[in-house]
Amino acid sequence: MTDFRDQTTARGIVLIGAQWGDEGKGKVVDLLAGRCDAVVRFQGGHNAGHTVIHDGETMVLHLLPSGILNPGVECLIGNGVALYLPQFFKELESIRQRGVDPAGRLYVSPDCPLIFPSHMALDQARERHAGRGRIGTTGRGIGPAYEDKAARRAVRAGELFAPRAFRRRLAAALDLHNFMLEKYYGAEPVNPKRVADEWLAMADELRPLVADVAARLETLETEGRAVLFEGAQGVMLDIDHGTYPYVTSSSTVAAGALAGSGAHLAQLREVVGVVKAYTTRVGEGPFPTELQDEVGRRLAREGAEWGATTGRARRCGWFDAVAVRGAAQRGSIGSLCITKLDVLDGVDPLRICTGYQVDGGKTDVRPALMNRYAECVPCYEQMDGWGGSTRGVTRWEDLPQGARAYIERLEALVGLEACIVSTGPAREETIIRRHPFDS
Ligand code: GDP
Ligand code: IMO
Ligand code: MG
Repeated sequence: MTDFRDQTTARGIVLIGAQWGDEGKGKVVDLLAGRCDAVVRFQGGHNAGHTVIHDGETMVLHLLPSGILNPGVECLIGNGVALYLPQFFKELESIRQRGVDPAGRLYVSPDCPLIFPSHMALDQARERHAGRGRIGTTGRGIGPAYEDKAARRAVRAGELFAPRAFRRRLAAALDLHNFMLEKYYGAEPVNPKRVADEWLAMADELRPLVADVAARLETLETEGRAVLFEGAQGVMLDIDHGTYPYVTSSSTVAAGALAGSGAHLAQLREVVGVVKAYTTRVGEGPFPTELQDEVGRRLAREGAEWGATTGRARRCGWFDAVAVRGAAQRGSIGSLCITKLDVLDGVDPLRICTGYQVDGGKTDVRPALMNRYAECVPCYEQMDGWGGSTRGVTRWEDLPQGARAYIERLEALVGLEACIVSTGPAREETIIRRHPFDS
């Protein structure tokens, strides 16, 4: 029998997106970080764009954990993160300029696979080559970097400290990348020597930040510390459980938090799934509840729905309870955080997708086959909107009755309580009905 230890004392919370990303994870992590000792990124890379508001200024974090602006909170980047060092140092510089000091509380796993310019060139060349069949990636080299990891040719962060071997292994990887770039895609190759020099020049600055993240998590667990695992993307973009092939290349489900950091299963207490009160998606792929009408444009406008990483317009649609229920199951989600309620102020009537019409029948689960999923026509139930504003409301009882009824209906349809409701982008524009770190 496996020893799962005494989980009643576990103080780890996993927070993941339960839609197609951009659910507002950054804001919520920044808020919850005020009550925890460490925040851990465990998958994805700088394809993520997590918005936090600090002293009234908006900041988008791509690689640094969103707890970084909370003084005293330790921030860890686990082995599951694909690391693009120029972006990492750029973000470090930008938070330092804002007077935030990460010294002694930011650590990176030596096992992170590194992203190089050739991964980004491959990602972009592939998308161009695919034409209408493209995925709509962020172009950050995420797919090619995880392919190299699975193919066991990734060069990892810790290898920077053995320069000769680093040059050799990098040259071997780039040899293959350049072959594909030039011969298959007809694209420009990447100069291996220039990349090696540029990366080795960052080694000294990286060295004090490299630590065994799994060991650090074990210590934090032993000390009874509260740890928040910060997911990137969302369950519908998961490499296995998402809308394949229109997905990212990592495990965005809660299980990814363990594989991507080395934390012990028994360290986890609860998984919180973040969802918008409606749905958005960036990039290609099926999206049954997408709205291409004035309501969709209104959601985009009021919700400021353009990508935090690429600036692309996000596609908008109604809340899809089928998608979120499935994501909750696959993502081990135990409670919800519902964001952007305020964006629905004045939208009347509201619709919620409760099932799909497909192949002449009705289903309330997402079809496994993508070609069937692409043909799903949503079945909606309708609710009245509400008068008045929810923007900035901090107490449940201060919400208009219609807004409460809407949240309660989402809870019933998904089968989970909403422990947090977000009513604006700022930290304090939040209703905390039950704090995940309580009890
Ligand atoms: P993430 O990738 O999940 O961290 O989400 P993003 O930061 O990419 O996108 C969420 C956007 O919504 C950001 O611009 C946030 O500032 C904003 N946001 C978060 N919560 C709320 C909310 O409750 N109301 C409104 N109006 N905006 C929000
Ligand atoms: P956060 O963490 C929204 C999408 C891309 C594309 C697909 C694959 O901010 O929620 P990739 O570059 O990962 O190979 O692209 O995944 N995507 C995201 N969409 N939010 C994200 O991150 C995303 N990261 C990737 O648009 O459809
Ligand atoms: Mg985002």
